[in-house]
Amino acid sequence: MNVSDLQVRVARKATEAVDIATFELVNVDNRPLPAFSAGSHVDVHLPNGVTRQYSLCNDPGESHRYQIGVLRDPASRGGSVAMHEQVREGDVLHISPPKNHFPLASKARHHVLLAGGIGVTPILCMAERLAVTGASFEMHYCTRSPERTAFRERIERSSFASQVAFHFDDGPAEDKLDIGPLLAPVRPGVHLYVCGPKGFMDWLLGAARDAGWPAEQLHYEFFGAEVVKSDSDAGFEVKLASSGKVIPVAKEQTIVAALAAAGIEVPTSCEQGVCGTCLTRVLEGQPDHKDMYLTPEEQAANDQMTPCCSRSLSPMLVLDL
Ligand code: FES
Repeated sequence: MNVSDLQVRVARKATEAVDIATFELVNVDNRPLPAFSAGSHVDVHLPNGVTRQYSLCNDPGESHRYQIGVLRDPASRGGSVAMHEQVREGDVLHISPPKNHFPLASKARHHVLLAGGIGVTPILCMAERLAVTGASFEMHYCTRSPERTAFRERIERSSFASQVAFHFDDGPAEDKLDIGPLLAPVRPGVHLYVCGPKGFMDWLLGAARDAGWPAEQLHYEFFGAEVVKSDSDAGFEVKLASSGKVIPVAKEQTIVAALAAAGIEVPTSCEQGVCGTCLTRVLEGQPDHKDMYLTPEEQAANDQMTPCCSRSLSPMLVLDL
């Protein structure tokens, strides 16, 4: 936890859809909460010691509460299950102030918001904001079924309902999201925002890149992705540029863990390659990027990496630490 962390009370916990709960968080002293912009998330420090990032999904104009939506993931490593089972109304939680790695592009002439499942949380916040400012936008929301569609009623009752299309996996084929016309041709000034499970992100971002969308018109945020281990993961060494100290990283160890064992702390948050908190400059060597944070172009440049999950393809990495 950091000194800037906030203490909030769970004022309301509700079932929003099948396996999705929403939590309304208010300041323990009832004072206004720090302002946030659309696309922001907070780090929630859970009672079981785990920290998870959750996007704020209420209107960014509100200062009396933060709202988050949490999908119960059976494969959860202690985050979503703890939120669903252990956190109750009235509980006090420690959270970080809002951070935004997924902001709206201020100069866009049209915004295309693409949400998959629980990825709707930052996207809905963006839609609320764009509707308030009168910006041009459309939203596509893909879920497995209406019962698993969080915030459906809220969206249907909103002033921007006509700009939102729902696409259900179990619905008629003609209602499925047809990305062909959405992505071709690439339109100048149009920005795409994608948030959802990994398969959804890979599908949409891959198709957008194949269609020629430049990186500056593509915005995305991954959720709690599983870090992929490969058989080729091996031990290697990390050298600190400042001191020349060489630290071995064992096959089963992360760089961050090896550095911590040697007394060097790298700030982390998600530890899953999603948030970018641990981003570190690479001065020599070739990282084995396993994060979702850097763009493919940034990864290919090999001059920065996320040591919470990424490894090395060369016997040694020299890091700017
Ligand atoms: Fe989040 Fe490394 S701590 S990317």
